Amino acid sequence: MGLLSRRATCNTHGQDSSYFLGWQEYKKNPYNEVNNPNGIIQMGLAENQLCLDLLEPWLMKNPDALGLKRDGISIFKELALFQDYNGFPAFKRALVDFMGEIRGNKVSFDPNHVVLTAGATSANETLMFCLADQGDAFLLPTPYYPGFDRDLRWRTGVEIVPIHCTSSNGFKVTLPAIEQAYRQAQKRKLRVKGVLITNPSNPLGTTMARDELYLLINFIEDKQIHLISDEIYAGTVFTSPSFVSVMEVLKDRNLDQTQVWERVHIVYSLSKDLGLPGFRVGAIYSNDPVVVSAAIKMSSFGLVSSQTQYLLSAMLFDKKFTKEYMSENHKRLQKQQKDLVSGLEKAGIRCLDSNAGLFCWVDMRHLLKSNTFEAEMELWQKIVYHVKINISPGSSCHCIEPGWFRVCFANMLESTLKLAIQRLKSFVSSIAMKSQSHQELKSLRRKARNNWVSRLSLQSFYDREQDTTTEVSFSYRPHFMSLSNIAATLDAAA
Ligand SMILES: Cc1ncc(COP(=O)(O)O)c(C=O)c1O
Repeated sequence: MGLLSRRATCNTHGQDSSYFLGWQEYKKNPYNEVNNPNGIIQMGLAENQLCLDLLEPWLMKNPDALGLKRDGISIFKELALFQDYNGFPAFKRALVDFMGEIRGNKVSFDPNHVVLTAGATSANETLMFCLADQGDAFLLPTPYYPGFDRDLRWRTGVEIVPIHCTSSNGFKVTLPAIEQAYRQAQKRKLRVKGVLITNPSNPLGTTMARDELYLLINFIEDKQIHLISDEIYAGTVFTSPSFVSVMEVLKDRNLDQTQVWERVHIVYSLSKDLGLPGFRVGAIYSNDPVVVSAAIKMSSFGLVSSQTQYLLSAMLFDKKFTKEYMSENHKRLQKQQKDLVSGLEKAGIRCLDSNAGLFCWVDMRHLLKSNTFEAEMELWQKIVYHVKINISPGSSCHCIEPGWFRVCFANMLESTLKLAIQRLKSFVSSIAMKSQSHQELKSLRRKARNNWVSRLSLQSFYDREQDTTTEVSFSYRPHFMSLSNIAATLDAAA
C-alpha cells in the first residue's frame, strides 16, 4: 500500500457510492427476458438505446464509412498512422454543425474553438485542469450527476461545493442558494473558480429557464469566475419548454467579445444524443483561445480514434439523416418517459415534471419509514434486492431531501419498462398492505382492551394471518384481504 500513490489509494473517486454499487449488483444478476426473467432490471444507467435501430441501417447504406474507404478506395493507412491531436477538421466541422442544429440554429459554433476528448467525462476533467488548481472549488447545483465526484475531483484535487436546490421550487437554482454556496466555500477557505451546471439536468430531466441562466451569468460576471455548461443532453429535449443554450443567452445579451464570453465553456458528447457512449466522443467548446490551446495539449491523454472520427464525420454530414434521427429520437424518448410517468402515477408515485433527458426524478418520500437518508438507503436496498430494479438514490446525486430517486427509462425495451413498473406497483401495494395490516391490528388491540366482542375479532384476525402467511414475522405480514383489495384497485387504475 505504502508504495502506491495517494491518488491510487484515496476514496474520492466515489466508487463506493450507491450509484456504482447498484451497477455492481445489476452485473451479478442482470435481467434477461429469456435467460434470467427474475434478474435485476437496470434503471440506473443513463443510456439511450431507443434509436440504435436507425443507426445500423445507416451504416449498411454507407459501407465506405465503416470500411474505412473514400470513394471506394481504402484509406486504412491514412487512418492507422499518426494522428494530429488537433482532431480531423472535417469531423470538427460536422460536430459543430450538429451542435448548432440541435440548438435550432439559433447559435453557431466555430470549429476552431473545439477540443475533441474521449467523452464528456474527459472534457469535464480537462476543463478542471485548465481552470482550477488543486484545492480550488467549483460550485454545482444539487442534485447533480454522481459521476462528477470522479470526473471533477478525483484526479484534479478540485473541490465541489454544492448549491443546494430543493423541491420547494422544482429544484431551480436561486440567487440565495448560490450565494450561500459561495459563502460556504469562503468559510472553508477555498478559492471559487467557477460554477458548473448541467443543462438539461441530469438527474432532473429538466431544461434550465432563461432567467436561471441570466442569474448564473450575472453571478459569474460579478465574481469574475467561470461558467461551465455541460450540455450533453441538449438533443434529448422532447417537449416544451425548448432548450436554451448558455451561448444563446450570451448572444441575446450582447456579451460576445466580452470577458464573460471567454469565461463560459460548453461540454458536449455524442454519448446521449446519438446513443454512442462506447465510441467515446466528447468535446469542449470554449471562447478563450488559451483554454482551447491548453485543452488541446491535454487532450492527447484521451483522443478520439481516427476511424471513429472518420465514421462519424460521414454520419453527421448526412443532414437528412441527422434531422430524421433527432425527430424520431424525440418521439421515442417522449413516449417512453410518458409510459414511465403514467405507470408510476398508477402506483401512487409522482415524478418531477420533465421535458428532457433519459431519466425521471421520482418522488418516493412517502415510502420512507422516516425522513432520513438511512431510510432512503433502506428503501433503495429493498428496491434493488427484493423488487429487483436498480435505480439511483437521491443521496448519490447529493440531493438534500431524502426520498428522491433517479429512474432511467431509455436503456430498455418497452416490455422491460412495463415489467419494471409492474414490479414497483406490487411493491408499493405490499407496503400499503403492511401498513394497513399494522393499523388494523393496533386498532383491534385498542378495542380489545375494552370489549370482549372485539377480543374475538382480534383472535380471528390472528387466525386469518396464521392461515395466509407463515414465513414473515407477524407485524410485517401482509394482510390477505387487503392484498386482493389493493391489487384490484391498482388493476382498475391500470
Ligand atoms: C451530465 C453528464 N456529464 C457527463 C457524462 C459522461 O458522458 P460520456 O459518456 O460522454 O463520458 C454523463 C454521463 O452520464 C452525464 O450525465
